[in-house]
Amino acid sequence: MSVETVITGLRSLLGDRLATSNAVRDHHSHDSSWHPAALPDAVAFPGTEAEVQAIVRLCAEHEVAVVPFGAGSSMEGHTIPTRGGITIDLRDMNKVLEIRPEDGLAVVQAGVTRKQLNTELRATGLMFSVDPGADASLGGMASTRGSGTMAYRYGTMRDNVLALRVVTADGQVVKTGSRARKSSTGYDLTHLFVGAEGTLGVITELTVRLHPIPEAVSSAICAFPDAQSAVACVIEAVQYGLPMARVEFLDEVAVSNVNAYSGLTLRVAPTLLFEFHGTEAWAAEQAQIVESLAGSHGGADFVWTADAEERGRLWQARHDLYWATKARRPGCELYTGDICVPISELAGQIEAARADIETSFLEGQIIGHVGDGNYHAGYLVMRDSPEEMAEAARLADRLVERALQVGGTASGEHGIGLAKLKFLRAEHGDAAVELMKTLKAAMDPKGILNPGKLGQAG
Ligand code: MLT
Ligand code: ZN
Repeated sequence: MSVETVITGLRSLLGDRLATSNAVRDHHSHDSSWHPAALPDAVAFPGTEAEVQAIVRLCAEHEVAVVPFGAGSSMEGHTIPTRGGITIDLRDMNKVLEIRPEDGLAVVQAGVTRKQLNTELRATGLMFSVDPGADASLGGMASTRGSGTMAYRYGTMRDNVLALRVVTADGQVVKTGSRARKSSTGYDLTHLFVGAEGTLGVITELTVRLHPIPEAVSSAICAFPDAQSAVACVIEAVQYGLPMARVEFLDEVAVSNVNAYSGLTLRVAPTLLFEFHGTEAWAAEQAQIVESLAGSHGGADFVWTADAEERGRLWQARHDLYWATKARRPGCELYTGDICVPISELAGQIEAARADIETSFLEGQIIGHVGDGNYHAGYLVMRDSPEEMAEAARLADRLVERALQVGGTASGEHGIGLAKLKFLRAEHGDAAVELMKTLKAAMDPKGILNPGKLGQAG
């Protein structure tokens, strides 16, 4: 194995689009999480799929690791090159190639970000719905099977990717899926790559679903006496079949963080934030139904608004929550758990997570995409404190163990990454994990694609 030979080869292929400076390598040594950084040997910025193929082929020939990189917003260390090698940053492959309004789909290069796509869609009356908060790249979102605040109504990346082009470990291009809304032909390779965390191929192009921008959008906020009442309200709304576009839970700590960071004056209590889509009448009616459900669960101060500016401020504050929480303790990292359970179990799981925080010396908060049964318990830690890191890991592990006991999953939207690899067997069983390893070995026999992660370890 010779990284130097690969770097020389890539330099002649890419010129100054092959970076070896400390600053660029450092930028690609971490993601948005607390996971320890590791430097790539070099970072390649391809402009075309053919260049991605050439990079992968050269790395395969010399058995050098290849780590695909989108916007660097992943939460579980996926893009950290723990074994060095070449990071492929897809930021220059950022063209929206085709928009087909009548078919409700767009074809984009993997480096296109979700905000960029929505900006380019503006004139069409359509939107790309998956919204993880960060302005993530679509290739990265597909790779982590991301979701976020709008998944309850519009689905996750699993539901919104129709087709892919992927460079596999031998440098070939595989086309998966089609433009049809559904298909029953062949193994579902699209969904093998969606969530593969860059371990089976480098996604270069995606065909994604678009949804009509609703005629009317309204939001509502409601404070509850406790988390249990808030979750009970959500369960009833779900059972009612109410197609809430967003339903987010914030515990009182998160609310006070939002208030402090974003200048809001929300009542400091366990709170639900809702968004409703539809015609004007239907969006208003959904809010009325939720208001009465909330009232029957002790919800108070139900505030409803259809004002675009007010809504924008509220959801921006929710999206900034990650930064708001970190701002609470300068220099800290947010060690965040990402649990998803059947919704009937959610209240019990949140209660147990809160009890853990109460008895720990760490500060923490709980938020959730509660319509999906998905919540995050986050702990404020100093990376250089072994005691704090160990305590956060202990608490995060307990979350997963409890979720698995009730038929949940170790990650609802952030992915397996590095720290959750150890739970794969408990969640999926030995036979399933061995099958994942067989697939990985067949598709990447030299183990060059994002090595040491999904499909190899665990
Ligand atoms: C969110 O929901 O804000 C993100 O998934 C990040 C987090 O875990 O806080
Ligand atoms: Zn989230």
